[in-house]
Amino acid sequence: MQFKAMILDNAEVSPGYWRMRMTAPPEILEAQPGQFVMVRVNPSIDPLIRRPFGVFDVGLHQPAYTGAAPQPYLEILYRVVGKGTAMLSALHGTDLLDIIAPLGSGFDCGPAGEEKLIVGGGVGLAPLYLLARELVKDSPVRLFAGGRSKDDVLCITEFERLGVECYTATEDGSLGEQGFVTKVLEQRLDTTGNKGRIFACGPHGMLQAVAGIAAGRHIPCQVSLEGYMACGVGACLGCVCQGANHSSETPDYRCVCSEGPVFDVTELKWEGACHAT
Ligand SMILES: Cc1cc2nc3c(=O)[nH]c(=O)nc-3n(C[C@H](O)[C@H](O)[C@H](O)COP(=O)(O)OP(=O)(O)OC[C@H]3O[C@@H](n4cnc5c(N)ncnc54)[C@H](O)[C@@H]3O)c2cc1C
Ligand code: FES
Repeated sequence: MQFKAMILDNAEVSPGYWRMRMTAPPEILEAQPGQFVMVRVNPSIDPLIRRPFGVFDVGLHQPAYTGAAPQPYLEILYRVVGKGTAMLSALHGTDLLDIIAPLGSGFDCGPAGEEKLIVGGGVGLAPLYLLARELVKDSPVRLFAGGRSKDDVLCITEFERLGVECYTATEDGSLGEQGFVTKVLEQRLDTTGNKGRIFACGPHGMLQAVAGIAAGRHIPCQVSLEGYMACGVGACLGCVCQGANHSSETPDYRCVCSEGPVFDVTELKWEGACHAT
């Protein structure tokens, strides 16, 4: 659906990272973990192309004035990397945005009771919060959050409030274990005898490492990709990445926006050929 959203809050939660809450129609409450939204950051023609963001959270917002009905809201968590995201960060409460949402396919949560291992790198944590909220209803959930420094490890307190056990790793050692978060994931899998189901989102290098760990230990694993997108609905083919059976003789492409952004790792080709991040 396409709708006009009014910004309720837009705050910098860590240097360069912003969390925006906006109004949304009641249907947004049906958004599945892993789905995304396309945001027209500006009503003018520049930039013309909508920007994709994962659904960080949805819920009901209670307006300050008494007697008002609760208002459905949508939240995104975003990193300022260029023109569009810089424009978003300059917006204030009551400003309006044009949104198409929810789009794409979400995560398959798997069976109840099984240990769920969520792996997020930097702003890759964005689509994983709604997932954690869903998973904690019937399963033990552990989060492995990584980044270059502590400033890149976001919203851990929110995950902890859900009852998620959180592990952190940073490349500079400023928070948690020093090094890659995949090392901490492997330590956990060593102690549990490779039990669980993995869900990951983050930079391509991290996803590739997670896919390798899952394959080596025979653990089911889904990843959410963040390829470059123009239309978000399967029309431009700008977001395709290579499927597991791709070769020059038999092309096998997956459209990240309409078939994903969540894929089982076994569906994709991982030898550096998947150009979605
Ligand atoms: C399904 C999906 C979900 C996403 N969810 C989130 C999210 O929840 N939070 C978030 O912060 N970002 C998310 N992204 C990435 C986000 O869409 C881009 O960062 C954003 O479009 C950049 O817009 P811009 O105008 O600021 O940057 P541009 O001016 O377009 O680009 C600035 C720089 O960022 C690089 N860049 C742009 N888009 C991407 C991308 N997709 N991946 C890697 N590098 C990119 C460009 O190469 C360039 O160097 C998601 C992307 C996809 C496809
Ligand atoms: S963004 Fe156009 S086909 Fe995916």
